[in-house]
Amino acid sequence: MTDKEISWKNKFLNKLLVGDSAELLKEIPNDSIHMIITSPPYFQQRDYGIKEAIGNEKEVEEYIDNLIKVFKECVRIIRPDGHIVFNIGDKYKNGSLLLVPWRFAIEVLNRFSDLKLINVITWVKLNPTPRQYKKRLVSATEPFFDFVKSEDYYFDIDSFLSIHSLLKRKKNNHNNSKIGERYFELIEKSGLTPEQKKKAIKELNKVIREVKEGKIAGFRMKIKGIHALPFGGQEGGRKIQLEKNGFTIIRILGKDLKRDVIESPVETIKGIKHPAIFPEFIIGELIKLLSPSKGIVLDPFVGSGTTAAVAKKLGRYYIGMDINPKYIEYAKKRVKTIQTILEYIV
Ligand SMILES: C[S@@+](CC[C@H](N)C(=O)[O-])C[C@H]1O[C@@H](n2cnc3c(N)ncnc32)[C@H](O)[C@@H]1O
Repeated sequence: MTDKEISWKNKFLNKLLVGDSAELLKEIPNDSIHMIITSPPYFQQRDYGIKEAIGNEKEVEEYIDNLIKVFKECVRIIRPDGHIVFNIGDKYKNGSLLLVPWRFAIEVLNRFSDLKLINVITWVKLNPTPRQYKKRLVSATEPFFDFVKSEDYYFDIDSFLSIHSLLKRKKNNHNNSKIGERYFELIEKSGLTPEQKKKAIKELNKVIREVKEGKIAGFRMKIKGIHALPFGGQEGGRKIQLEKNGFTIIRILGKDLKRDVIESPVETIKGIKHPAIFPEFIIGELIKLLSPSKGIVLDPFVGSGTTAAVAKKLGRYYIGMDINPKYIEYAKKRVKTIQTILEYIV
């Protein structure tokens, strides 16, 4: 390691720092961070108690300009295989949504033409603020924009929402013994030749195994003389199979579909007085999806320290910044309670 590398790592790695992130980020070298995930202060939404804090601007354009100053540094320091994830909330002004998150995302794509926006992951809040309006619905979603610098980005899709899919699979398992049962009877009843019946049963057993192992969500079987013949487009190939083999199997790949939606309640943490805490569950899922084990995860608006706490839990290095010293104090206490998996030693 060079002296320069040692000195920035000593200052930043596994640290929570007080300061303006647009300035602090300047001390981090190019292409050095695996993942940035953050939720900047929303526009005119909350008073974080510091006059210079982002979010208190008079006009939305000025707010976005200030965010872009921080974002520009994020682009510089993120590795070519890294991700920059920004979660931003919207705001009503004179009864109309300002579309703040989308203005930000469009501005980013306009200014940084090399960046790609690969996903907008929608957080569905299971317990939105219970404030009912007479003439509009309660907002219960927020976007997480996922930007990358190159096509060669890290992406561990199997780790995303994997516990959920496992639980779901378990729930469905009790019906496993009956999967495909009726098709055996239909094959027997059909006018297929003995050879065709043998092949149909073999293929049916194979596809049933795929469902039981969770490789596919389900299947349909069509048997000549029993089911209507499909026609046209992609089904044309199936028609040929039906003619030739006397049956065709349509696999349904849906069960483990990884959708760009994540459901979680809004969180508050006992003893932490911060008005906009990230749900640990969402941050954990995104950290597992978008950063490698022992990677560096940075949050330039760390607030109560959620990103740092979750990164530490998951065996990543963390860097957190916040302009408000009070929040950094909370964050330090919170992160301290987590068992250390990684310690940076020079
Ligand atoms: C929405 S909160 C982040 C909450 C955080 N995700 C959590 O889980 O607690 C935004 C934070 O940005 C901080 N902030 C505002 N302007 C800042 C700036 N210029 N530099 C660094 N932090 C700033 C605020 O003090 C606030 O804690």
